[in-house]
Amino acid sequence: MAGKVFFSVSMSLDGFIAPESPKDLMGPQWMELQQWIFPTRFMRENLKLGEGGEEGRDNDIVRETHLRTGASVMGKRMFDAGEHAWPEEAPFHTPVFVVTHEKRDPWERPGGTTFHFVNDGIQAALDQAREAAGDRDVRIAGGGATILEYLNAGLIDEFSIALSPVLFGSGIRLFEGVDAGRVALEPVRAEPTQRVTHLTYAVLER
Ligand SMILES: NC(=O)c1ccc[n+]([C@@H]2O[C@H](COP(=O)([O-])OP(=O)(O)OC[C@H]3O[C@@H](n4cnc5c(N)ncnc54)[C@H](OP(=O)(O)O)[C@@H]3O)[C@@H](O)[C@H]2O)c1
Repeated sequence: MAGKVFFSVSMSLDGFIAPESPKDLMGPQWMELQQWIFPTRFMRENLKLGEGGEEGRDNDIVRETHLRTGASVMGKRMFDAGEHAWPEEAPFHTPVFVVTHEKRDPWERPGGTTFHFVNDGIQAALDQAREAAGDRDVRIAGGGATILEYLNAGLIDEFSIALSPVLFGSGIRLFEGVDAGRVALEPVRAEPTQRVTHLTYAVLER
C-alpha cells in the first residue's frame, strides 16, 4: 500500500519558516524557531551534536516523523543551505530527491542518504520518491517554495506544523501564494508541549 505525502515544518507565530537570506540561518530568530527540536535526544544523535538530550513528547514526534519517512523531496535552496551544514552522515538515511534546474550526479553520503537531482519537475520527483519509499511515507522536506508547489498541485495528503513562540516580521512565508480556492483543511490533531504547539491537518480538495 502506498504511503502518504506529507510535510512537517517549524513555523513562527506570524507564518514564516525561514529568514529571507540563508546567511541569517542560525541567527537568533532561527534558533528560537527551532528551539524545540535541537535539544531533543533524537535530533542531537541524528545531527551528531553529541550524546544526551531531552526525551518526552517533542522527542517522540521528531523520531516518529523520521521513522515514517521512506524518502524525502526538497527544493534546491533547502539543499544548498544544508549541503555544508549537515554532518557527513546526512540526517535523512533514505533517498532524497532534490527538485532543481541544476544537473548533477547523485551524491551518496555515508549512512544511507543519497541525494538525487531531478530536473523534470515536482511530479517526477514525487514519483521517484514514492517508488523509493515503498510502504512508508514521502516527506516534502521544504523549503517554502517547494512545499507550496506540491500543496497547490493537490499532491499533499497531510501536514504538521510546530508553531513556535517567535515572531519573524519578514522572511519566507509558508503559505504565500497558496491556492486557497483549492485547498481545504481538516484538523487531525493539536498538541501543545512546553516549547511549541504541534498542529496536524489533512488536506482536502474544495
Ligand atoms: N522551518 C522549517 O521547518 C524549514 C524546513 C525546511 C526548509 N526550511 C528553510 O527553507 C529555506 C528554503 O526555502 P525556499 O522556499 O527559499 O526554497 P526551496 O523550496 O528549498 O527551493 C526552491 C528552489 O528549488 C528549485 N525548484 C523548485 N521547484 C522546482 C521545479 N518545479 N523545477 C525546477 N527547480 C525547482 C529552484 O532552484 P534552482 O532553479 O536553483 O534549481 C528553486 O529556486 C531554507 O532557508 C531552509 O532552511 C525551513
